[in-house]
Amino acid sequence: MKTPVRVAVTGAAGQIGYSLLFRIASGEMLGKDQPVILQMLELPMEKAQAALKGVMMELEDCAFPLLAGMVGTDDAEVAFKDADIALLVGARPRGPGMERKDLLLENAKIFTAQGAALNKVASRNVKVLVVGNPANTNAYIAMKSAPDLPAKNFTAMLRLDHNRALSQLANKAGVAVGEIEKLVVWGNHSPTMYPDYRFATVNGQSLKDKINDADWNANEFIPKVGKRGAAIIEARGLSSAASAANAAIDHIRDWVLGSNGKWVTMGIPSDGSYGIPKDVMFGFAVTTKDGEYTMVKDLPVDDFSQKAIDKTLAELEEERAGVSHLL
Ligand code: NAD
Ligand code: LMR
Repeated sequence: MKTPVRVAVTGAAGQIGYSLLFRIASGEMLGKDQPVILQMLELPMEKAQAALKGVMMELEDCAFPLLAGMVGTDDAEVAFKDADIALLVGARPRGPGMERKDLLLENAKIFTAQGAALNKVASRNVKVLVVGNPANTNAYIAMKSAPDLPAKNFTAMLRLDHNRALSQLANKAGVAVGEIEKLVVWGNHSPTMYPDYRFATVNGQSLKDKINDADWNANEFIPKVGKRGAAIIEARGLSSAASAANAAIDHIRDWVLGSNGKWVTMGIPSDGSYGIPKDVMFGFAVTTKDGEYTMVKDLPVDDFSQKAIDKTLAELEEERAGVSHLL
């Protein structure tokens, strides 16, 4: 039997938490032979703690053979203690009359504290995925608040955007999702993101040969992927949850177990490539192997792509400037 992996999940009693925890406990994220200990964080409010207790009762009732232990707490230092993986899902949602800037500042406080707690008590190799919005900037804040942990271990979720783009492309080209490779979503998890299929292939053949339609790309595909989160909220009255949890599982599974040479999109701290300033938490194409990711470098950037990348970078720089006084 393998040693259990400690997986911390914040916002554990929320919508995404409810779609995520059971799949982690059943082995879908780390493998069917890998025991896990779930360390779940929720707000101290009575309602949140009661909901968390209910989720833990249901986890217990599943009798998952791989679930080697559970902790439910309102203390980040308890939730993150020796954590090997931390999924930071809990965040302050936008309230009535709240400006984007207010949201940024409220979340900056949460992610400063959680970054500091990770810095203090987590495994020195902890792999962190930030899902809570604004995900890229929250991940940047957590990274900057954890100076003793490797910066490269802090990532933001763009996998949902990657998966959304895959499905749109597969529909348009009339091919199976699994046949498409070499897709990338550049930048911020926001409507400025740039889903880019210039390098994509289907069974080794260029996808551009099947979808040679600049108008569809600029006026349908890119806006549709970028605004998909808002479209889900409009349709459901709630933001995406099962698909977000699924993307989080894809992100961590590939990071830990490897992508077998395939490109996936991860929000990672820039190393200065593609003119993205160092440390900006930006969506890039990566491949993963042996628990490490490697950025796909030296892709050609045409005028259209450069403009799209500049736009999403400008937004991230603005978000970064808005929270810099707290770091
Ligand atoms: P939710 O409101 O259903 O659940 C969030 C939970 O987090 C709540 O139970 C809340 O009590 C808890 N929480 C809030 N602040 C916390 C804190 N400081 N510590 C611990 N727990 C805390 O929301 P949800 O639908 O699960 O979404 C969670 C976040 O994920 C939101 O910010 C949402 O915008 C974001 N999201 C991101 C993506 C992505 O692709 N990156 C996709 C979908 C949703
Ligand atoms: C999504 O992409 O589905 C979410 O980030 C939307 C949101 O604002 O919660």
